[in-house]
Amino acid sequence: MAGMRAVMFDRYGPPEVLAQVDVPAPVPRGDQVLIRVHATTVTSAECGMRRGEPRWGRVILGPRRPRKGVRVLGLEFAGDVTAVGPAARRLRAGDRVFGFTGFAVGANAEYKCLSERASLTTIPDGVPYAQAAAAVDGFTTAWYFLRDLADVRPGQKVLVIGASGSIGTYAVQLASRLGAVVHGVCSGKNAKLVESLGADRVFDYTVEDFTTSGERYDAVFDTVGRSSFAHCRPALAPRGCYLPTTGLVNQVLALRTAVTGGPRVRTGMSVRKHAALAALRDLLGKGALQIVVDRSYPMAEIVEAHRYVEGGHKVGNVVITVADGAGPPAGGTP
Ligand SMILES: NC(=O)c1ccc[n+]([C@@H]2O[C@H](COP(=O)([O-])OP(=O)(O)OC[C@H]3O[C@@H](n4cnc5c(N)ncnc54)[C@H](OP(=O)(O)O)[C@@H]3O)[C@@H](O)[C@H]2O)c1
Repeated sequence: MAGMRAVMFDRYGPPEVLAQVDVPAPVPRGDQVLIRVHATTVTSAECGMRRGEPRWGRVILGPRRPRKGVRVLGLEFAGDVTAVGPAARRLRAGDRVFGFTGFAVGANAEYKCLSERASLTTIPDGVPYAQAAAAVDGFTTAWYFLRDLADVRPGQKVLVIGASGSIGTYAVQLASRLGAVVHGVCSGKNAKLVESLGADRVFDYTVEDFTTSGERYDAVFDTVGRSSFAHCRPALAPRGCYLPTTGLVNQVLALRTAVTGGPRVRTGMSVRKHAALAALRDLLGKGALQIVVDRSYPMAEIVEAHRYVEGGHKVGNVVITVADGAGPPAGGTP
């Protein structure tokens, strides 16, 4: 059986629990396609998975150790199809594809098998693998919150907290494309970048609290879990919504505010990404999206990449190059 390199962890802990190992390469069955991964990323969410945090997440990941199916991380990928299972009809060997592995994870490896019906699609011509991989999770999560949950309309006012992060950089661009007036919250060093992405006003959280500005928002999107509904409520319009990407308490608040009236909490997990991926593919093909890549590491240096992402101050995305040809982290680098 052919082998491949993959990055694995078999216990929760710091970045050093990750190790590059040789494992058997997967074989596509049924409607699966075998993807040779050229580029993947390290996200803040995966740093949490590696640490086994939040603790309730271990119900899914494994109570004491990560269960076998999640020991190779990697949520986003771009690569090419090298083989297909007997029932695959949509994709063929040679197709350049990008997408989201979801609960299957596993893109921190040279090869990954996924159903061709999973959240993946073809990469528009001319878009480098590294850019494609770095666009998936941030953009599709921003789409889920701003389109699916908040239904942002032209003329509405949207505040993006964490506007310089992965989800944030796409949220600012998406809200702006939806015709909203967009304000962003980030530190001063990233203010110019966030303005260049389409923010009409930027709050530097190190010197200013946006809730004291007198502004009222139809949607406050906290992409990084640094605020709370109670803190943001004075900045919400009477029928506005607070959109947190994390926090068990927010699930409870979402249920409660659905019946109490006034500003609502809307939250959830972006898992099925087909519609958002189609929109993303369209924008990438038109060159209409800025993909901010902060750093790029070869897979052999993924421990270093996790250390950096864990710091909580990456700008946009951190790419991992797996196979040759992922290309430099071009475009959007601040
Ligand atoms: N619900 C879902 O479906 C879903 C999907 C994906 C991810 N998530 C969750 O979303 C969260 C973050 O996502 P991400 O990858 O976009 O984050 P990220 O890229 O790691 O965010 C980093 C950015 O956050 C900024 N930041 C740090 N503290 C801040 C503060 N107090 N106020 C404003 N900005 C601040 C930093 O800017 P400075 O350097 O300027 O401080 C940095 O640019 C994770 O917790 C992840 O689990 C949820």
